Order: sequence, then C-alpha cells, then structure tokens
Amino acid sequence: MSKNKNLIAIEIKDLKKHYKEVKAVDGVSLTINKGELFSILGPNGAGKTTLVRMLTTVLTPTAGDADVDGNSILTSKNEIVKIIGVCPQVITIYDALRAEENVEFVAAMHGMSRKEAKEKTKKLLEDFGIAGRKDWSKKFSGGMQRRLNLAMSLIFEPEILFLDEPTAGLDPQARRLVWDFIRDMKDKDITIILMTHDMVEADSLSDRIAIIDNGKIIAEGTPAELKEKYGSDNVLEISFIKQEDLEVVKSNIQNISFVANWNEIHRKERNTLLISFQGGLKNLTKLLQQGLTENIDEVVTMKFRQNSLEDVFLNLTGRRLRD
Ligand SMILES: Nc1ncnc2c1ncn2[C@@H]1O[C@H](COP(=O)(O)OP(=O)(O)O)[C@@H](O)[C@H]1O
Ligand SMILES: [Mg+2]
Repeated sequence: MSKNKNLIAIEIKDLKKHYKEVKAVDGVSLTINKGELFSILGPNGAGKTTLVRMLTTVLTPTAGDADVDGNSILTSKNEIVKIIGVCPQVITIYDALRAEENVEFVAAMHGMSRKEAKEKTKKLLEDFGIAGRKDWSKKFSGGMQRRLNLAMSLIFEPEILFLDEPTAGLDPQARRLVWDFIRDMKDKDITIILMTHDMVEADSLSDRIAIIDNGKIIAEGTPAELKEKYGSDNVLEISFIKQEDLEVVKSNIQNISFVANWNEIHRKERNTLLISFQGGLKNLTKLLQQGLTENIDEVVTMKFRQNSLEDVFLNLTGRRLRD
C-alpha cells in the first residue's frame, strides 16, 4: 500500500453528501493518479460541484473520506489547501480590484514574493488575453471574468488543480484558449481534476473520465475505453415529427445484425431515434435501405456520425447529457 501511495494524487473513499432526501454525492470512490487529467463528466445536478467542494475542504462530507496527496480531507485541511488550486464554478473575483491586483492578491496569500508575483501575473494575463486592462474587474465581460478566475487558480502552480466547469459561458475561441492552457498545465505534471458537463471537452482533454449521475459514478475509463465499452462505431440519428414514423423504422431495424442498439428521445415536436451500429459507411447504406421504408411520412433531420461520449451517457442512462 505505502509503496504506491506517492503515485496517487487523490483517493476518494465512499464519499457522501446528503441534504435531507437529496443525495448530492452518494458513495463515490475513485483513485486519481499523479499527473493525470481526470474528468468527472455529468449533467447539471449530478453532484460535481458538491464533490469538488468536499475535496477542496470547503464542505464537510456526510460520510466517507478522501485523501488528497495523502492528507485526509476530514483531518488535514491545512496541508491540503497549501497544495491545491481551485477554479470554482461560480466566478469568485474581487470586483473592486483590477485584473492584475486580483491575481497578485492570490499570489501574496500563497507567500509568493512581490517580484515573482508581478512577473508571473503579467505572463499569465498575457496568455489569457487580459493583460493591460486597467479598469475594475467588475466591468469585465463574463468571459473575461472567467479567464481572470482561471488565472487566479493557476498563479502559484499548484500540485493539484480543481477546475469546476472552467469553460462554462465562454465563446468558442475563449474556450479553446482555456483548453490550451489546461494542456500546458498538464505538461507541467500538475494533476488536474476537471468537472464538466461538456463531453467534447472531456473527450479531448482527459486521460481518464468518470461519468457521474445522481451522485453516483456509473462508469469509469479512458475516453476510448468508454466508447468501446458503452458505445458502437457509428450513430445514425433520425428525427421525425410523427412517433408513428419512428415506430416504423424501429421495427425495420429490429433484426439487422450490425445494429447494436437504439435509443429514443422525445422533445417538444421532435421524436428522435438514435441507432448505434457497427461497420461504418459501408453499413450506413444498408441501414438506410432497410430502415427507411416507403411508408414513412416525413424525416426532419438525419445525422450520421462517429460514436461519442454523448452516446455513452445515453446508453448508460437513456438520457442526453444536456437534457
Ligand atoms: N446546499 C444544498 N442544499 C440542498 N441541496 C443541494 C445543495 N447543494 C447542492 N444541492 C443539490 O445537490 C445536487 C447536486 O448539485 P451540484 O453538486 O451542484 O451538481 P453539479 O455541480 O453536477 O451541477 C443537486 O440536486 C443540487 O440541487
Ligand atoms: Mg456544478
């Protein structure tokens, strides 16, 4: 046990947080290795923020424990806060301070010298595209505040970095910038725990992913392993106005051997059938021929794509990640 201990960044042991009948986190156990980028992927309300707040010692668990670099969250709070960086979901900046003052303030709290703090802050704000702003951060756009908040969590290069939905509300360009930054932090061997409901984000950044739903981990693995285990090669997504049309296609595909499974989603006027199948393009033609017979009235949209983490979640829960 002790031999491997220093390879493990975080060991979560049956951790729970219950609010009366709401089981926000309900028995999570996970091992996160040092230097790993580990994502916890799940829909809104799954328990991600509650989990982060317990691991960063802001919130006391109802039951269970976790070791952060060998320190228990129950008994070694002071040791833990020295080595972690946290970028919370709710933007936490001092809005009566300028951007650089915010970052330098955090640096000072961690005992960094004034000179080093100034240099690092300048570099960081340049990287995040918010250097040279002299106005109060209160006046910043949401995207800029988010980037400032990230810079604050990164200033002292923590051993373990917790990011709770770091790209929520960012435009695509800013989002990509943040992703690049996260990759840079990973190259510096910082262990990163990323909470996200964004499957593209989880897929493109993570070494490993745990999928969380209703406070429980329902699957764990590398992105490829998850897709391999819970997905299929390809997905054909067809939306109909009429449920009758969907039923026709469903009965047509029942006995097609390369069809792995299907899911239905009903939203407003749309009835969508997602067919997971093997064999790629070659089988797509067959699937269309055999599935879409002439007694179908109307297809609204049709989409052919690679299997994604969205399908993994759908196959596990019967729901979409974003619903
Ligand atoms: N202080 C609280 N009191 C009661 N319920 C809470 C509290 N904090 C979170 N919850 C509930 O716990 C669940 C998980 O919330 P949260 O951890 O914020 O999820 P996520 O970050 O994945 O969106 C939700 O149902 C939420 O409403
Ligand atoms: Mg959250």
